[in-house]
Amino acid sequence: MRIILGITGGVAAYKAAELARLLARRGHQVRCILTEAGSRFITPLTLTSLTGEPCYGANPDHGEWRALPTIEHIELARWADLVAVVPATANILGKAANGLATDLLSTVLLATRAPVLWAPAMNTGMWEHPAVQANVARLRGFGHTLVDPAEGSLACGEEGAGKLAEVEVIAEAIQVAGTPPLPALAGRRVLITAGPTREDLDPVRTLTNRSTGAMGVELARAFRDAGAQVQLVLGGDLPAPWGVDTVRVRSAQDMLDACASRWADAEGLVGAAAVADQRPEVRASEKVKKGDGPETLVLVRTPDILATLSATKRPGQWILGFAAESEHHLDHAAAKLARKGLDAVLLNDVKDGRAFGDQPNTLTPLTPDGSEPALGPLPKDALARAVVAWWADRLARRS
Ligand code: CTP
Repeated sequence: MRIILGITGGVAAYKAAELARLLARRGHQVRCILTEAGSRFITPLTLTSLTGEPCYGANPDHGEWRALPTIEHIELARWADLVAVVPATANILGKAANGLATDLLSTVLLATRAPVLWAPAMNTGMWEHPAVQANVARLRGFGHTLVDPAEGSLACGEEGAGKLAEVEVIAEAIQVAGTPPLPALAGRRVLITAGPTREDLDPVRTLTNRSTGAMGVELARAFRDAGAQVQLVLGGDLPAPWGVDTVRVRSAQDMLDACASRWADAEGLVGAAAVADQRPEVRASEKVKKGDGPETLVLVRTPDILATLSATKRPGQWILGFAAESEHHLDHAAAKLARKGLDAVLLNDVKDGRAFGDQPNTLTPLTPDGSEPALGPLPKDALARAVVAWWADRLARRS
């Protein structure tokens, strides 16, 4: 992607250098535009060194604005696939919200037809001021993406909202804003379960499994990038992905409750969670002492989330499930497809701990029409994109 990174005058400007480096490393072409105030916090030399591209705008190294025999703002506006302003001050938000163009960055922002993303950073009082909030709302209304500031201790000594979002989060939001949606999934509401569930025996002991939730979280990202509105019901400890409405759950019953209230409004469901099939019959409210506890655990069945939701499936709704199998893979996966009333199953070979954590994985799609060529082996992010592309293609052919 060709990215223009606008850097305005806030102390968080130094973090824009880290962002520029990250984006360049991920293969993007990054050209920075410094405002005059931005150039007091960071130099063009830093930015050109990190990106290998020219830096535009205020150029204090030469004590002047550069004069080139081109219409620079129009050329840059046309060049960009995306314009990101990081950090964005109250001043630039106000200018852009009101169509003011007083320097190179604000003129590029007005001239570009590319997606625009803002990552504001400022004092809490400024961020919460109705004028700034009205400007932000106006920019959202233009279709711009806002990466809201985080809460934390600010350079001015105050605690509160206004801290620049994490550089990784901004990079992820840039990726999303710059990815064209897939027509079969754009605007579709997709509910995804991910991660392990935890079934507690007492306040300190729990029954769980080896899943981290990585595949489900990557699927949430891939559906999001395809333009879907994703709701993620997540067990385990992985951080929630940016731009995905995430609800944290612990047990299988919590996961079912969270899904049940969202399923009616969704168009699709992806069951990527590794749901515990059993839970302890009794959950002790105090820690069970060595001497007192029974030596045998009595387990009872948890609800099957996919089967329960599938029973209330409306026409037009679709469900993708997983089948984690260590033997008789295709037979077991086909049985799950039929038993749970699914539209497709992604068969995962879990023999000898394959498929867990960071390792590359392979998934074989299986539909009522039979099995399809395997996707992978691929790292989980690329595999998730392959699954989404495969499913979007099937949905497009179905409608
Ligand atoms: N699943 C679910 N609720 C459960 C168990 C599983 O929704 N209580 C979903 C999983 O998210 C997955 C699919 O059902 O999409 C199959 O999960 P898997 O663990 O492979 O199979 P199980 O149904 O648990 O059957 P078995 O343990 O016999 O393989």
